[in-house]
Amino acid sequence: MNSRMWGGRFSHGPDAVMEEINASIDFDKKLFPNDIAASKAQARMLGARGIIAADDAEKILEGLDTILREFEAGKFTFSRSLEDVHTHVEARLIELVGPAGGRLHTARSRNDQVATDLRLWVRDAIDAIDAGLAGLQKALAEKALEHAATVMPGFTHLQTAQPVTFGHHLLAYVEMIGRDRGRFADARKRLNESPLGSAALAGTSFPIDRDRTAAELGFDRPTANSLDAVSDRDFVVETLAAASLCSVHLSRFAEEIVIWSSAGFGFIRLSDRFTTGSSIMPQKRNPDAAELVRAKTGRVVGALNTLLIVLKGLPLAYQKDMQEDKEQAFDAIEALELAIAATAGMVRDMSVDKAAMRKAAGAALSTATDLADWLVQALGLTFRQAHEVTGRIVRLAEARKLPLHRLSLAEMQEVEPRITEAVYGRLGVGPSVASRVSYGGTAPGNVRREARRWLRRLDKEAAAAG
Ligand code: ARG
Repeated sequence: MNSRMWGGRFSHGPDAVMEEINASIDFDKKLFPNDIAASKAQARMLGARGIIAADDAEKILEGLDTILREFEAGKFTFSRSLEDVHTHVEARLIELVGPAGGRLHTARSRNDQVATDLRLWVRDAIDAIDAGLAGLQKALAEKALEHAATVMPGFTHLQTAQPVTFGHHLLAYVEMIGRDRGRFADARKRLNESPLGSAALAGTSFPIDRDRTAAELGFDRPTANSLDAVSDRDFVVETLAAASLCSVHLSRFAEEIVIWSSAGFGFIRLSDRFTTGSSIMPQKRNPDAAELVRAKTGRVVGALNTLLIVLKGLPLAYQKDMQEDKEQAFDAIEALELAIAATAGMVRDMSVDKAAMRKAAGAALSTATDLADWLVQALGLTFRQAHEVTGRIVRLAEARKLPLHRLSLAEMQEVEPRITEAVYGRLGVGPSVASRVSYGGTAPGNVRREARRWLRRLDKEAAAAG
C-alpha cells in the first residue's frame, strides 16, 4: 500500500518543501497517547456496532496497545513523509496487524480525529494547571497566615498610601488565582464534547454510536454539529485566554517580587535556590526566576493572539491553517505550567524582613487617613473638614520632618484645639491596620480568618480529588 494515506490518486510524491511545510509530526507527536485512546474508542465502537468484525476490532486494539508501548519506550520511528501523528499510528497499525488495521479509519477522518485528540490534550492540560494553581494558592495562603499581622506599606501609584498587612497582600493573589481557576474550569466544561464521528465534515453513513465513544473518552456528550466540531478551535482560544490572564496575574506578582527583593526595598529575600549570581559582580543576587515568570507572559499572550489570527477569516469547515493551533497551545501551556511552579517555589522560599516592611509602612505619613478618620469618629467633623485639618497637620509634620505620631499634642491642637491624647492610639501602623476590620479589609483578624478559610477549602478540594 502507498505509505501516504491519501496516495491513490497521486502519481508523484511531494516536493521537499511541500513535505516540510505540511508535516506536523515534529510537534503533534505530543498527541500520541490521546490519538491512541481515541482510536481505541473508535475500534471498540465499530466492533460493537458490527461495522467491523469483532476479531478485527480485537486485532486493532492489541495493535494500538503495542504501538503505545513502542512510543512510550522511545522505540517508535517517525518519518516526515507520514505527515502527522494520525497517519503514523495508522500506518504502523497496518504494518503490525495487516488488513484489519485498514478498517480502523472507517467512519472517521483526520479532521474529527485531530479535533478529538486536541480536546483530550487541552483537557489534561487544564487539569494539570488547576492542580498547579491550587498548590500556589496553598503556598500563598500559608504564607499569609504566617504574616497576618506583618505590616507593610500599601501602595497606590507605587507611592506609599496606607499600611496594610503582608498576609492581606498575598491573599489578594489567592483571590485572583481563584478566578483564574474558575475561568479554566469554565473553558473545560464547554470543551468537554466529543467531535469523534463528525468525520471529515458532514458526518457519516455508517451506523456509529457517538454517545459510546464520547462516554469512553470521558466527554459529557458528542458535539451536535459536524461542521462546527471539525472547524472550530474556540476551546483552545478560551484556554489560552484564561492562561493569558493567569500569566498576567503571575507577572504582576513576579514584578512585586523583583521590587520587594531590590536593595531599595529589602522587604524579602530569595535564597540561593531561587536566585542567580552575576558573572562580574560578586555581590549580586538576581531574581531571575521572577523575571522569567514575568517574561513568560509574552509567550502565552502571543499564542492567544497567534491563534485568533490563524482562525480569523477561515471558512467552514476544516482548513489546514488549523494545524498551527498545536504549537501555540503546547508552548503556552508549558510556559504557564513552569511559571506556576516557579511562583509557588518562590513563595515558599522567600524570607520576610518584617522590620524593613514595618519601617517603610510608617514612612511618608502613611497614617494620615487614620488621623482624618479619627477626627470624624471622635470629634464629629465631616470627612471633608477632617481632610482639611489633617492636611494642615501633615504640612506641619513634613516641615518638622517627623512622623505624625511624633508631633506633640500642643502642635496638633494649634490646628484643631479639640484633638486629645487619644489620637495617638490611631497614628501608629499597628493600630492603623488593626482598625481596618471592614469585610475585605486588611486587619490581621480578617487575614487570619480568610487565610484559614482558603486553606480549609483547598484541603477539602484536594481530599475530594483524592
Ligand atoms: N495534522 C492535521 C492537523 O493538525 C490533521 C488533520 C489533517 N486533515 C486533513 N484534511 N489534511 O490539523
